[in-house]
Amino acid sequence: MNKISFKIGLLFFVAIFLLESISMFFLHDNIIHSRVHDELSALQTRGNNHREILEASFHEETIRHIAMMEARTDTQVILTTPEDGIYMSSNKVTDEMKKILKGTPKNVPHDGLILEDNWKHATYIASISPVVIDNKVKGYVYMFQNTQKIKDLISGLNRHFLLAGFLSLLFMMIIIVFLTRAVTHPLIKMSDATKRISKGDFSVSLPNLGKDEMGELGESIKVLASDLEILKNERNEFLASISHELRTPLTYIKGYAEIARRGDTTAADRDNYLGIIHEEAVKLSKLVKDLFDLAKMDENNFSIEKETVQLLPYFQRIIEKVTPALNENKMDLILDCSDQLYGQIDPIRFEQVILNLLDNAKKYSEPNTKISLDVKQLINKIHVKVKDEGKGIPEEDVPRIFERFYRVDKSRTRTLGGTGLGLSIVKQLVEAHGGTIEVKSTRNGGTTFEIII
Ligand SMILES: Nc1ncnc2c1ncn2[C@@H]1O[C@H](COP(=O)(O)OP(=O)(O)OP(=O)(O)O)[C@@H](O)[C@H]1O
Ligand SMILES: [Mg+2]
Repeated sequence: MNKISFKIGLLFFVAIFLLESISMFFLHDNIIHSRVHDELSALQTRGNNHREILEASFHEETIRHIAMMEARTDTQVILTTPEDGIYMSSNKVTDEMKKILKGTPKNVPHDGLILEDNWKHATYIASISPVVIDNKVKGYVYMFQNTQKIKDLISGLNRHFLLAGFLSLLFMMIIIVFLTRAVTHPLIKMSDATKRISKGDFSVSLPNLGKDEMGELGESIKVLASDLEILKNERNEFLASISHELRTPLTYIKGYAEIARRGDTTAADRDNYLGIIHEEAVKLSKLVKDLFDLAKMDENNFSIEKETVQLLPYFQRIIEKVTPALNENKMDLILDCSDQLYGQIDPIRFEQVILNLLDNAKKYSEPNTKISLDVKQLINKIHVKVKDEGKGIPEEDVPRIFERFYRVDKSRTRTLGGTGLGLSIVKQLVEAHGGTIEVKSTRNGGTTFEIII
């Protein structure tokens, strides 16, 4: 028995037990009340009947007859004179009866009175009916009945109630056990599942829990498990990629440093090797910087500080920076941006975005092609398009180019110095600005990136 089942079960039990006890109590009280009432009014009616017979004929004969009739029942009749003398009694008059007889009130209504109804403590219940002939009280008919009969009746009733109570309690407990099992079973399953997930076992199998909140929780746990699994795999892949990316330039550096160190290497060769070593070291430091940026973004540990920027001079300054590199490739860059445009951006981060896109456009295009940079405002959003006439991206690769370390043509891009981190940084930065980035590209048909902020 686990804790939750016990708690719910106990709660159920207490609630139902209280409810049952209260309703049983009232039922019991009601039944007793009406049974006693029945007995009392039966006694009174019997007395009244005798009284009527006596009023019709108040004779020795009749009185004896009544006494004889009563002698055979469990009730007793006593007929008294108006002055408390006893005419007749169907049985022996006991002391208790005498006490009741003495206490007779003076003016009894014609329909009679109940004199004693305390069935619990008195020996008798009793009633009185006055015999009135020609407006004169001729005597009183007292009726007595031993309360033992009522007591027996009620103790029988109590026994039944006790049995019923016990049986329903038993029944209730069985139902509660099954019910709490049904309620808590899925919870326990889910708790087990989460424990397994935390230990790294993502193969959660939960029973079908239906469409209620419990089912939703189960679904969420399943989704969580698969998300965690994906995350874990991604992390492993990422780590593998990082170590791979670090190893390649390091191998070059190590190799060329060894050759350069050899005594028989000419000065010209050594210079060449040192150049390669330097180039690889630059790549390494870019890689490390990119990784650091990504790590910061993953932790939401960097802030976008937006300010209002006039866009035309801003982009012109960026273009100035890249023009020498483009000229080297004999490429043209055309900027189309109105003087009146202003944007809410973090100038440093957004420059990083644009430089990355321009770097790609340059890297993946042939000489003598052009790149265009269009900046427009459409319904208070800024649209920035970077378009090139390069080799494009194959359709099947388009959805994946924003992934970390994803490169279309690994062997070729390496010679161009790409690690595949640029676009994933771009995407994160654009999203941190609250914007979106989309790409349209076809193989050999150029590529367009559109940022909407
Ligand atoms: N303008 C483009 N034209 C053709 N292919 C592109 C273009 N931009 C990106 N790609 C493809 O998408 C891949 C991912 O680009 P991304 O900028 O993320 O990485 P990278 O340029 O290889 O390396 P990094 O930017 O980190 O130096 C590139 O390797 C390239 O294959
Ligand atoms: Mg790039």
